[in-house]
Amino acid sequence: MRGSDVISVRDLGREGLERVFAETDRIAAMPEAERRRLCAGRSLGYLFFEPSTRTRLSFEAAMASVGGTSLGIADSATSSAQKGESLADMVRIMSMYTDALVLRHPLDGSSRFAAEVSDRPVINGGSGTEEHPTQAIQDLYTMRRERGRIDGLTVGIVGDLKYGRTVYSLLHALGNYDVKVHLVSPESLRIRPESVYEIRKRLDLAESTSLGDCIDELDVVYVTRVQRERFPDSEEYQRVRGSYVVGTDMLQKMRRGAIVMHPLPRLDEISTEVDSTPAARYFEQARNGMRTRAALLALILADGGP
Ligand code: NCD
Repeated sequence: MRGSDVISVRDLGREGLERVFAETDRIAAMPEAERRRLCAGRSLGYLFFEPSTRTRLSFEAAMASVGGTSLGIADSATSSAQKGESLADMVRIMSMYTDALVLRHPLDGSSRFAAEVSDRPVINGGSGTEEHPTQAIQDLYTMRRERGRIDGLTVGIVGDLKYGRTVYSLLHALGNYDVKVHLVSPESLRIRPESVYEIRKRLDLAESTSLGDCIDELDVVYVTRVQRERFPDSEEYQRVRGSYVVGTDMLQKMRRGAIVMHPLPRLDEISTEVDSTPAARYFEQARNGMRTRAALLALILADGGP
C-alpha cells in the first residue's frame, strides 16, 4: 500500500481492508516509542473545502500518534481559494510541502482529480455525495471488533441514503463480505440506483421506508444524518428531517447484542438517552476512526512497512 492513493473504498477490496484492520491491531499492541517511529519525519497535508470535525482532527491525531506532523487548510475561506486559486494549483503546492494529502471537497470526482495532479498519495476525506472511504474503513473495523466478524451480519442503513456519501462507501466495503443489508429511508431519500447498480449483484439488498419492519432482524443499525446542505429545496428538507429517530423504544425491539452506529455528526436521529446504553457504539466508532487512519497512514507512508 506504500505510496497508494485512497480515492474509493473499491480500490482496497477485502484484502486491502483486512490489511488496514490487521495494521490497526498491530499498532495498538506496539510500545509507544515504536509506534512513534512509524511516520517519524513525515508530514500529512490537508485541504478541507467543507466543514469537518472528526475526519480532519482524527487524521491529525492519527498522524501525531505515529510520530508525524500535519499542516493544512481547515477552512478554505482563509486560503487562496478565496482569491480564485484553482484546486489543481492548491494540490500541486501542498504536494511540495507534505508527504501525503487528505482532501475534502463538495464535488464528486474531486479526489480522483487531485490524485492526478498530485505527486504525493491522495486520501479522499469525503468527495461530494460520492464516497468517504476512510469512514467505511472505521465502520467495518468497528463492526468486526464489536461483533467479532463481518460475514454473516445483517446491517440496516437508515436515513439519508440519497445524499449520504458514507452510505456509498459503506455499501462498497460491505460488498466484499457475505452480509444482508436493509436500506431504510423516506421515499425521496432512497439510494441512487445508478450508484449501486454493481453492488446489487454482490449484496443482498432490501429497501423499505419502515425501520420498525426490519429492526428485529438487524445486527447493526447504522443511522445517518439527513444531509441538509445537499438539498436543492429547503422545504423538502423540512419534510423529511426527523423521519427516523432511534430511541430507547427502538432498542427494545432490537436483537440481543445488536449495535447502533452513526458516522456523526448526529442531530436528532439518535436520542441522547441511547448514548449510555451498551448498544451505542458511535463514539467508539469515532475513536476507531483515529486508530484506523493511523494504520492507513503507516501503510502508505512508513519505510519498510508491511
Ligand atoms: C460524514 C460526512 O462528512 O460525510 N461526516 C463524517 O466524516 N463522519 C457524515 C455527515 O456529515 O453526516
